[in-house]
Amino acid sequence: MCDLVTMETGFAQGRLLIKDIGHLVGFGETPLNRLSGQDMRRMPVLENAWLAVEDGRVMDGGSMADFPGIADWSGLEVVDANGRCVLPSWVDSHTHLVHAAPRAGEWVDRIRGLSYQEIAARGGGILNSARALREMEEEALFDRSLKRMMRLMRMGTGAVEIKSGYGLDMASEMKMLRVARRLGELGHIPVKTTFLGCHAVPEGFADTMAYTRHMLDEVLPAVAAEGLADHVDIFCESGYFGLEETRMLLEAGDKWGLPAKVHVNQFTAMGGVGLCVEHGALSVDHLEVLEADDVAELASGATIPVALPLCSLFLDLPYTPGRTLVDAGCALAIATDFNPGSAPSGNMHLAAAMGCLRMGLEPMEALAAATVNGAAALGLSEQVGGLAVGQEASLMLTRPLSSVDEALYAFGDPLPERVLLRGHWVG
Ligand code: NIG
Ligand code: FE
Repeated sequence: MCDLVTMETGFAQGRLLIKDIGHLVGFGETPLNRLSGQDMRRMPVLENAWLAVEDGRVMDGGSMADFPGIADWSGLEVVDANGRCVLPSWVDSHTHLVHAAPRAGEWVDRIRGLSYQEIAARGGGILNSARALREMEEEALFDRSLKRMMRLMRMGTGAVEIKSGYGLDMASEMKMLRVARRLGELGHIPVKTTFLGCHAVPEGFADTMAYTRHMLDEVLPAVAAEGLADHVDIFCESGYFGLEETRMLLEAGDKWGLPAKVHVNQFTAMGGVGLCVEHGALSVDHLEVLEADDVAELASGATIPVALPLCSLFLDLPYTPGRTLVDAGCALAIATDFNPGSAPSGNMHLAAAMGCLRMGLEPMEALAAATVNGAAALGLSEQVGGLAVGQEASLMLTRPLSSVDEALYAFGDPLPERVLLRGHWVG
């Protein structure tokens, strides 16, 4: 076991053999790009298998019946899975894990009857998080965020996206993104960063358009110049940012070479999905409220729909119609949305299970949504999302299961007994 805080950057040196794996999920000769529609049920599963890891990457694997034996024992760790499953680590393609503090008080207010929108209208919500974040020193923000990331890693998350959007001014947005970048530079797991300056309009601006222009014309160029963002995002929603602002964001993303991942259709269907798909956004996320023409747009384009079922659970919203999207041929992804206001959990196992319990997905479809398709929603298909030769050796050795389906069936119990990330066992 290694101490994650002091774990060195990069891949582990060393070799590992996991043998007698009951079910090995995601192994192959080449990484999967994305799985769409009916193919989402076809994530490769090898029964009674072995997997070899070297320098933090998958080296080889196969069926125990064809196991070639061990020629060189030097520096080799051998783990007997004893029939347990090996699954690729989760890929959480949508989080706000860099934030200053929880908002449990607002949650209690909601239990007592206030709505999420009413709380926001009183200056709570995103603006509440922004006040706390602006006051927090960068080091304190980094320490808190690292602890959160490590918690996710122990639950089996092997890659994560992190958004800004609680800064809402130049200095604080950049502070958030620097923290997210530094988390990635630790080398524990890949971290993709997303500029979400257009998350809410703070005080001091004439209107939404004036704030959007400030974010896109002044803050984004500074963010891009320092290489702090991989993606751009906007909260396209009634009462937040409209279609015109969203179009401007998509164009700004093109200008800076930053693919868009857009918050859209959380509460209202207002044409944002079509706009994003036609513009070639990498993903559209939330989609709790989806109309037939939105589904048709998604089916005809390459944009990945990302469902966030923990947000639906926490805010009591409709669930993204996952079954409908998969039946329409989409490459659906599932992520947590981990944030203090609408989804205070980074539990990908629960999110995937909710895909089955509330979105009508079969277990193999939900697993594909939370791994392979999550990687596609981050442009990380070569590295993570599966356990093909050359991909990062980031995996979960599960507690004993009689089938892969059981991984999501017992939704409340911790799934992994051990987690390996980039070749390191996580303590
Ligand atoms: O994805 N919808 C917009 N943003 C976040 C929640 C923000 C908050 O409440 O702090 C989300 O749900
Ligand atoms: Fe979000």
